[in-house]
Amino acid sequence: MIEKPLEQGRVKLKNRIVMPPIATYKSNEEGQVTDGIIEHYRERAAGDQVGLIVTEHSYINIQGRANAKQLSIARDSDVEGLKRLTDAIHAEGPKVIAQLNHAGSAAPSEVTEMAPVSASPVVLPTPQVMGDGGIPKELTEEEIKQVVCDFRDAAKRAEEAGYDGVEIHSAHAYLLNQFYSPLTNHRSDGYGGELIGRMRIHREVIQAVRECIGDEMIISLRLGGCDYMDGGSTIEDSVNASKLLEEWGVDMISVSGGMCRYTREGHEEPGYFSDMSREIKKALSIPVLLTGGVNDIKDGEELLKKGAADLIGVGRALMKDPQWAVKAMREFAGV
Ligand SMILES: Cc1cc2nc3c(=O)[nH]c(=O)nc-3n(C[C@H](O)[C@H](O)[C@H](O)COP(=O)(O)O)c2cc1C
Repeated sequence: MIEKPLEQGRVKLKNRIVMPPIATYKSNEEGQVTDGIIEHYRERAAGDQVGLIVTEHSYINIQGRANAKQLSIARDSDVEGLKRLTDAIHAEGPKVIAQLNHAGSAAPSEVTEMAPVSASPVVLPTPQVMGDGGIPKELTEEEIKQVVCDFRDAAKRAEEAGYDGVEIHSAHAYLLNQFYSPLTNHRSDGYGGELIGRMRIHREVIQAVRECIGDEMIISLRLGGCDYMDGGSTIEDSVNASKLLEEWGVDMISVSGGMCRYTREGHEEPGYFSDMSREIKKALSIPVLLTGGVNDIKDGEELLKKGAADLIGVGRALMKDPQWAVKAMREFAGV
């Protein structure tokens, strides 16, 4: 079934293989698209055997910039370069969506020249130090509203640049994940507390984005659903969160890790987040994308057949071999 098209709501793809966002660190110092980035994506789109490409996380404002080589979608002047990128990908066939990110307290102040911010003044509990590794400043309600506007404006730029949709990044310990996780959100106002409060910023971002982009545009959300840490978010949280996200108008959920980031200690098996994605898929009617540990197309097929997900992300294998999908589809389905 991995070679079969998928059509669920706005998500219409030629097959079930997705290239998940992987930072290339090839932007110029202004965060703009370079020929190197275009070539990187063009090579992986060539042959048209990846159903969907999600481009690397791109910062929505300077305070949320994760590193000096990160791609920007924070300024109108970024649109021209991004348009060259989507044109190059579309010319090869695949659909493409832009991952929008604010790094929160994972943004190093030597890059942003601003103080790091987060849901609460809490040091990130990630396995590796991110950003300055210190205590961030808690965002005020007014500042949260500005972040919501910045996500919205970034989504509008993605549309102008010709993307087929956007992915809101709420995984891997970045800002929206910092709001979602009870380990990093200790707020007592309407943006904290129970899950519904910790996800208020998600609802506001989704609604603001939906209102400003065209009806055909896909909204995906990458959910760092479970922290796999004591006191952190749980699989049960991820299911409840996904139900809310579907209700709020998200078209697709991409499942990944939270404070543990995109790997999981002690796990390297294909689909190492499938204990979470399977439960999410059972509860939803929008497509669920599972990424992590899939290097062989047969393992991806097995995960789909067992009901672990609707779509399979293949990251590092596609980084190593740009023609991974073309070769895999040829061997697996004779395409
Ligand atoms: C170098 C590198 C950069 C990454 N950049 C991003 C990113 O920009 N956004 C994101 O959501 N995930 C990012 N990831 C996580 C991948 O999308 C993916 O979830 C992870 O590599 C696990 O999948 P795999 O086993 O197929 O590689 C990155 C991973 C790596 C190795």
